Parts: sequence; structure tokens; C-alpha cells
Amino acid sequence: MQTYHIWTEGCQMNVADARRVAAALEQLGYQPAARAEEAEVIVLNTCVVRQSAEDRAIGRLSSLRAIKKRKPQVVINVMGCLVGYKENSLLKERFPYVDVFSPPSDPLPLVHFLLQREGKQIDFEEKRVRDVEMYGEMTLPYSERGKQVSVFLPVVYGCSLACTYCIVPYRRGAERSRPPGEVLEEARRLAEQGVREITLLGQIVDRYGIDQPGYPSLARLLVELSKVDGIERLRFLTSHPRWMTDELLDVVASVPKVMPHIEIPVQSGDDEILQKMRRGYTADQYRQLIARIRQRIPNVAIATDLIVGFPGESEEQFQRSYTLLQELRLDVVHLARYSVRPGTLAARQMPDDVPEEEKWRRFRLVEDLQEKIAEQIHAACLGKVEQVLFENRVKGRWRGRTPTNKLVFVETEEDIGGKVLAVEIIRTGAWSMLGKLV
Ligand code: SAM
Ligand code: SF4
Ligand code: F3S
Repeated sequence: MQTYHIWTEGCQMNVADARRVAAALEQLGYQPAARAEEAEVIVLNTCVVRQSAEDRAIGRLSSLRAIKKRKPQVVINVMGCLVGYKENSLLKERFPYVDVFSPPSDPLPLVHFLLQREGKQIDFEEKRVRDVEMYGEMTLPYSERGKQVSVFLPVVYGCSLACTYCIVPYRRGAERSRPPGEVLEEARRLAEQGVREITLLGQIVDRYGIDQPGYPSLARLLVELSKVDGIERLRFLTSHPRWMTDELLDVVASVPKVMPHIEIPVQSGDDEILQKMRRGYTADQYRQLIARIRQRIPNVAIATDLIVGFPGESEEQFQRSYTLLQELRLDVVHLARYSVRPGTLAARQMPDDVPEEEKWRRFRLVEDLQEKIAEQIHAACLGKVEQVLFENRVKGRWRGRTPTNKLVFVETEEDIGGKVLAVEIIRTGAWSMLGKLV
């Protein structure tokens, strides 16, 4: 039996990419192995959004040298944002024991390598290859069918915005929307394979269709997807304050399958920093947007991203981020300490002058603030009944999510995976809630 192992770091896009590779490999007859040491094909799906993620990827990659030495027949594939979409000869020189480098979202270099190694002519008319190309990336791996309740589905690849701190556009290339027919077909297949919730992905997901004349808007796409049998819930991320339309907000408010959950990064609460980041909005515009979202969608949950310690960020400027979050009381804050990324405008033009300890201090202050806010928001759910979609069992408890994406655990012997059930919330904390089936 041939086996594979995939190690994935980074964002939801990488999780989606890992599913594609797994589906393609299982089409070729491979089966999953729990540990890299046991596998014949090892895939490292990498992230470089911050230096720490890049360091982990390099660390992992270096540790594979020993495995390759011991078992030269093992195939090592590195994919994702460490590789990027352009030819990367430096990486090839530095890690000569890697068999295949693949750009983000593309399982084909690995598939072709494996077929070639088996002595197969790469005949693109051959059904198996065609299946991998056409459908491999649009299904669940066999091993996950009937088990995956919630999946990520990319609808926009790449990004053409170039915020000054961000390496993503350099690694994932220009923005490309996927054809709506392909997205719908993928959703139908996933539903047939047991999926109940789909989260549409894009770096600026609300820009879906803008790069392609004749494509529907994200709002229209969601309406079409809501007609797919079997799909109970739809979400989308990440939104950008400049492209959030009322059309989209109204679809969230009026289409029952589209969940009241918006992920819309602010990145900073200070106008000068926002300008240096080239985000294209002010803190006040963000405030107004949050008010507009809350006005149009009752009981909406809003998540944001924030960077502390951006070049030149003074104490006063940091305080503006802090007070903005204090004022807006958002549900979730994905928090990051600024990290220099080579090739970005900030790396070239703005000295990384906030000391590491100071970044940590600001990080902890926001973390503490948000913990309290989340605790209070969750506490308000106590005694209420929520509709929870259950995904899997973790340490004897079923894990699911409310429409607002809040984590709920329930103790029951029943198999409730894939079901939406009414749950009374009986205990709450900052990160999750405990409930009982009603
Ligand atoms: N496209 C989304 C957006 O516009 O926010 C997400 C991009 S990125 C994959 C996810 C998050 O990583 C960003 O929202 C940002 O907060 C953080 N990030 C990106 N570059 C960073 C850097 N150089 N240092 C620290 N955090 C960074
Ligand atoms: Fe990066 Fe900005 Fe694009 Fe998000 S919108 S991926 S932060 S460049
Ligand atoms: Fe990382 Fe690339 Fe996502 S850098 S956060 S895996 S887009």
C-alpha cells in the first residue's frame, strides 16, 4: 500500500489546498498515513506570512533530510507560499533532496512526477490524469467522504492589492476568480460526499467576479450556492472594508443558509498607519462600516485582524487600535506582531523600529482586552438556545458551531456529526461554550 502524509501550516487557503492534494493522491491510489515517517509521499504545505511561519517550514523541511537519506525512494513535495508561483531556483539549490516544488493551490506537479516515476507516459487524454485535473481538486479525498462536515472552497486565487506589509501577492500571484459554474459543480460534489457547510475563500473574497467580465458578484454566487441540496450553511472570508457592498450584506441578512458571520480585517486603528499600510480606508470609515453591517444583519458576529508594531507605530497610534477594539467589541480578533517580509514595500522602505518586547507588550494588551470582550459576548448566550452544526468528536465531546461561528461542545453518545441541532448553552468561557441538546 502506497501512503502519503501532508503537513499544513498557514491560512484556510492552505487547508483547502491540502484537501486538493489529498484528493489527487487518493485518486492515484495512495492512502493517508498518520506520520511523515511512515509515508512514501511527504507533502509540506508551507506558509510565510510571518517570519515565524517561514522558520517552522524551513525547520520541517530540514528535518526531512534525514528521512530522505534513510529512505531515498520517499518522494518529498514542498508546496505553498514558501515556493510561490514563480520559478524558485534558490530554494532548489538549498534543498536538493526535495523531489517536487509546487506553487500554492496546484497538486499537478506532484501528480505528474508520480505518474512519470511509475513509468507512465503523461498522456493528458488518459482518464485518470484527466480526472485528477478536472475533478480531483473538486472533491473530498476518499478517506474523508462522509466524514467532513465543513470545508473551505477557494473562489478567488491570489491578490492584486499589495498592502505594504504583506507577502501574499508575491507568492500567490494576481487575483483570479474561478468560473461560477466550476464553483457550483464543486459545491454539488462536496454535498454529495457529505459536506454540510462551505466557506468560500479569497484574500478579498468580496472582490469575487470583479476581475472577470460577466461573472456574478459574490452575493449572487451565494444565492446560487444556497440552492445546492445538502448544503445547509454558507460562509465567506476574508472581506475587505473597501469592497463590502450592501448587496452582499442584504444577502447575508435575507438568505437563511448564509450565516451571519463577517471576517473583515481592520489591521490598525490609526489613520497614518493605515495609510502607510495602503489599506485604503480610515478608522472612521471602518467604524461606519461596522455600524452598517450591524444595522443590516441582526445578531451578526464580526471578526477582524490587527497588526501591532507596524513600522513607526507610536504608543499613541497603538492606543488608537486598542480603543477602536474596545469601542467596537468585535467577536474575534486575529492578532499579529508585525514581521518584516522580504520583497514587500514596508521591508524596503520602512525600518522595523518597534522593539520585539514592545510588540509583545502591545500584543498581550490587546489579547487581554479581547479575552474579556469575548467572555462577555459568550456570557450573554448563557441559557439561550442556539442552532449548532456538529462537525466531529474531540475527546469524547461533540464539537460544533453556532451560526455566528462560535464553538460549542456537547456531551452525547449519539452520532450527531453533520446535523444541525438545537442546543441550550449551559456554560460559557472566552473561547468556547458548553451546551446540552434540547
Ligand atoms: N487577505 C486578508 C486581508 O486582507 O486581511 C488576509 C491576508 S493574510 C493571509 C492574514 C493576516 O496576516 C493579515 O490580515 C494580517 O493581519 C497578517 N499579516 C500579513 N502580513 C503580515 C506581516 N508582515 N506581519 C504580521 N502580520 C501579517
Ligand atoms: Fe495581503 Fe492585503 Fe492582499 Fe490581504 S488584501 S492578501 S493583506 S495584500
Ligand atoms: Fe500563509 Fe500563504 Fe496563507 S503566506 S497565510 S499560506 S496565503
